Amino acid sequence: MAKMETLQAAAEELRRRFGQSPQAGVVLGSGLGGLADRVQEAQAVGYEELPGMKPSTAPGHRGRFVLGKLGGKTVLLMQGRLHLYEGHTMEEIVFPVRLMGLLGIRALVVTNAAGGVNLSYRVGDLMLMEDHINLMGTNPLIGPNLDCLGERFPDMSRAYSPALRALAKAQADRMGLELREGGYAGLTGPSYETPAEIRMLRILGADAVGMSTVPEVIAARHMGIEVLGISLITNMAAGVLDQTLSGEEVIAVGRERGSALQALVEGVLEEMEL
Ligand code: HPA
Repeated sequence: MAKMETLQAAAEELRRRFGQSPQAGVVLGSGLGGLADRVQEAQAVGYEELPGMKPSTAPGHRGRFVLGKLGGKTVLLMQGRLHLYEGHTMEEIVFPVRLMGLLGIRALVVTNAAGGVNLSYRVGDLMLMEDHINLMGTNPLIGPNLDCLGERFPDMSRAYSPALRALAKAQADRMGLELREGGYAGLTGPSYETPAEIRMLRILGADAVGMSTVPEVIAARHMGIEVLGISLITNMAAGVLDQTLSGEEVIAVGRERGSALQALVEGVLEEMEL
């Protein structure tokens, strides 16, 4: 089946299963899936139940869509995302984002676990993504443009919505939550970076590093969807502290500090005008 037809078929299946349209989408990162438990009137559809959709194999990622009420909005959550390091193609990674776009989301909140590159950051910090650097060496829009989704050369100068960032900052203030703001470097993984690579990323202007999010944001902007990105700093990046990095630590910090991020996302959804 051609790409657009597969997307349309999966969108049709989700519409049929859910029976209502989401106003916003949320992508839940490593260890951050707990927000799905706060959704009211929740309905779930496993990724494997949809044509064209790949399962998520990453640890801490459930691999299902959850639709329901959160912050007073009808929200579609991705409980678990797809990563390049799992062996998925860029096109497969952005398939669920495009699906959410076809279902009508106006805004997308992307969350992730990230390593702290900025030396003033601490484990457990939340960082509002103000921009990203795509160091994955590829782009989900490579190939024939899907004209019905967006234009060939989409603008990325305001990839992370200034309006949504302002909403998030105001919400964090109200909650008494300290919020960093910085740039995210997206690499393929799955090996963590070397200390030399982290020094390079710091010179490039990155504040945090991770293995996700960038493809999803590019695909969302292609479709004209407003994006809000929030990183949870689960560890200081390689070489910053005299210790090694582990995936278990990332997920454990996600579980411990995830509640602050979840409360922030819920509060922002409440304030969003959609
Ligand atoms: N590097 C890359 N990805 C990550 C990290 C890191 O230090 N922490 C969480 N995801």
